Amino acid sequence: MIMLQDLLAQRANPDVPSALSGLFPQDTDPRALSFAAGSPREDLFPVAAMRAAFDTAITENGAHLFQYQTAQGNPGLRAKLAARIGKWGQVTTTADNVVLTVGGQQAIELVAKAVLNVGDEIAVEVPTYVGALAAFDLYQPTYHAVPLQADGLDLDRLEDTLKRHPRIKLLYTVPDYHNPTGITMSIAKRRQLVDLANRYDFIILEDSPYRDLGYTHVPLPAIKSFDTAGRVVFVSSLSKILMPGLRTGWLVADGDLLAAILRVRLASDLETANVVHAAIDAYLEANDLDAHIDALRANYRAQCAALVQGLTAYFPDEVGYTRPDGGFFDWVTLPEEVDAAALLTQAAIPQAHVTYVPGTNFYPNRDVHNGLRLCFTGLTPHEIDVGMQRLGAVVKQAVRGARPVV
Ligand SMILES: Cc1ncc(COP(=O)(O)O)c(C=O)c1O
Repeated sequence: MIMLQDLLAQRANPDVPSALSGLFPQDTDPRALSFAAGSPREDLFPVAAMRAAFDTAITENGAHLFQYQTAQGNPGLRAKLAARIGKWGQVTTTADNVVLTVGGQQAIELVAKAVLNVGDEIAVEVPTYVGALAAFDLYQPTYHAVPLQADGLDLDRLEDTLKRHPRIKLLYTVPDYHNPTGITMSIAKRRQLVDLANRYDFIILEDSPYRDLGYTHVPLPAIKSFDTAGRVVFVSSLSKILMPGLRTGWLVADGDLLAAILRVRLASDLETANVVHAAIDAYLEANDLDAHIDALRANYRAQCAALVQGLTAYFPDEVGYTRPDGGFFDWVTLPEEVDAAALLTQAAIPQAHVTYVPGTNFYPNRDVHNGLRLCFTGLTPHEIDVGMQRLGAVVKQAVRGARPVV
């Protein structure tokens, strides 16, 4: 007899876990401190201002607001986002090239759908954002993993890979305060990456939801600002700077790529939630988004500093970690013999009551096990200090246990 499972598409095969499944460990102990989920702080959400904006949008537009509109989405909001990426990212574009999406996640999925055939070759930096891997996995691609350096993608390694695999058609990168490492790509590398794309003929998917959340400097020019051939798709989101429940992301694309993305968008969901986008447009008319972001930055900056201080004070020398100057995350590299998932279930949760995301799922081939992601947005600086002290102690034990006894 054919089982129902046999009727499912291979891409939904329940025997192959999604990169996104089981990602966030739970600890119900009252002492638990979570460094796992990458959620923004709820107490900083501008709920009252957004409620007023919904009211304004509905009052001003009446029943028509609830009618079908366009595949690209609310023109006022698109114009504001185009102006924002012009000002803060030096991308010259207009509302005509902006598409509103259901979070940045849908933008990534639409690009994957518009570009990838099953089995195509793509390059990703490693470690990388799990949600992007989940979207790409649907097309069963052949992945080429390119390591990150302190100033972003290792472009020598990328070029080497491109020479050996000239059929790579897409490169995915998170250049600003990267998830999961917090690393930012230098301006020089952004320019060189576009040169490589022009020479080796591939598309760049630039995913930048954290670009406004820098704690020491203003945002760098987007990779898209160096694009002269329409081969970079820029993706961002309002999830981290406003509220994820708005489910509002956006992309900037040109020419044939834009047309292909709009075509697959029609098949996906026809168009965006216009009521929400009209409300966000009204919110941006009545409020200073940059002032709101400044307040977020002041809070997150202190949390980020507490995390790096804790890692410095309580972790053994054998352990490496990044020093983010923006975003939500820090990446910790344990000695190779220490498995971060085993450490989580055997010591970090039961002994330290600290949770984090073990790093394996951030690698497309799930073949690296000694990294872990810490998110610092959910805890106060004091809680972060306590959590790092507790985690540092179990990491020390694990490192000592893994070292051969002489
Ligand atoms: C790098 C990156 N891209 C995209 C997203 C998707 O976010 P959303 O769909 O809420 O915009 C996230 C969320 O964590 C992210 O970290």
